[in-house]
Amino acid sequence: MTGQLFDKLVNRETGLVSRKIFFDEEIYQRELRNIFAKCWLFLGHVSQIPRAGDFMTNYMGEDPVIVCRDDKGNARAFLNSCRHRGMRVCRLDRGNTDEFVCSFHGWTYGTDGALIGVPFMRETYGDSLEKDKWGLIEVPRVSDYGGLIFGCWDTNALSLDNYLGDLRWYLDVFLTRPLGGIEFIKGQQRYRCKSNWKLAGENFSGDTYHLPTSHASVYGLDIRQISPVTYTSRDILYSVNTRHGHGLTGINYTGERYRADLKEAENMGPEVVEYIAECARRLEETLSKSQANVYALSFGHVFPNFSHNSFSALRPMGFYLWHPKGPHEMESWQWCAVDRHAPTAVKDMIRHDFTRTQAVAGIAAQDDTENFEQVSEAARGVIGQTCDFNFQMGLGSESREIEGSPPGHIGNYYSEVNQMNFYSYWAEKMSEADS
Ligand code: FES
Ligand code: FE
Repeated sequence: MTGQLFDKLVNRETGLVSRKIFFDEEIYQRELRNIFAKCWLFLGHVSQIPRAGDFMTNYMGEDPVIVCRDDKGNARAFLNSCRHRGMRVCRLDRGNTDEFVCSFHGWTYGTDGALIGVPFMRETYGDSLEKDKWGLIEVPRVSDYGGLIFGCWDTNALSLDNYLGDLRWYLDVFLTRPLGGIEFIKGQQRYRCKSNWKLAGENFSGDTYHLPTSHASVYGLDIRQISPVTYTSRDILYSVNTRHGHGLTGINYTGERYRADLKEAENMGPEVVEYIAECARRLEETLSKSQANVYALSFGHVFPNFSHNSFSALRPMGFYLWHPKGPHEMESWQWCAVDRHAPTAVKDMIRHDFTRTQAVAGIAAQDDTENFEQVSEAARGVIGQTCDFNFQMGLGSESREIEGSPPGHIGNYYSEVNQMNFYSYWAEKMSEADS
């Protein structure tokens, strides 16, 4: 497979993407090597492992990993596969421990990954087993940005800061605004979806176009809308994409999201009004004026498989991983997060809002899952795979000038330039030589 092949499959000039990239087994295996073993991947949030010995499990591509805080307080990650004969060492989602005991033959590892126990070692191995060479395989790069922990298998990869690049300007808004910091609500929701992981990733990177149609029922029902600033005000909203395939949409640079929150807070009482005003003050004092005006991100995607949405200080912060499970299936993992210091009324509202919209049985998530699965079924046939997906909307018009010159390529709210940015970086990584 050569670079030319991927330039053909993802045609940046015409805005066409071959359907083959969602179904081909050989392409999928290359994705695991060139993308999931090379890019920075989201592992969790520091609030999930605050104390020494805290751990949670996750995946990097198809590789299971343990993410834990060692006894020196460092966040570390290890391949969750026993060095003896491959068993999953940690079979829990999260917890606190001094050691991980493999349930197959009992090899035991410390929170620093070292092999610290081998049953009947003297009788079985004598002196021949070099224990110090049989610790868990460690993820060599683990770093956090504003509490979001990422890991990367590639020792030659850019730093996390450089990988996120201009996206940080935007992430800083929702990482800074919570007065008590972000707190992940315990537990996560997971579901399998018979679809390629990229369909979810590109959707969160900027597919605003599906909102009025796919989510018509959400907007049509007499419940609070997903976002106080909706698609009806699209002329003041923008898409933004940055290097390395990242994208955001629904960005407003005029303070509109703050004004909408304030209006909604007035219906909830003085404590919530004061809370919203304090959030805005925090942004003004800490970040630039343009960032303070952005106030809240809508939804976005960090390449390759980490999405987020927030919309408002009165809405859930949702975090999503789209784990690849073969070319035809993904497993969605999702967390709801709140500002640790938000008023109780706001926290309660956020929890209910997440359950109602983006959670597994939420109305919005079901709309999206249906799209991903039906696209996959309808496009995977032998004739279907000869066609391309069309991402031509807004092509060539992604350089809007905005007051304050915020970073990134800024395009129209309704456009597909973010998705093309996602697939362009995908093609770039896929073109790199196998190592
Ligand atoms: Fe873990 Fe044998 S596979 S101890
Ligand atoms: Fe959607």
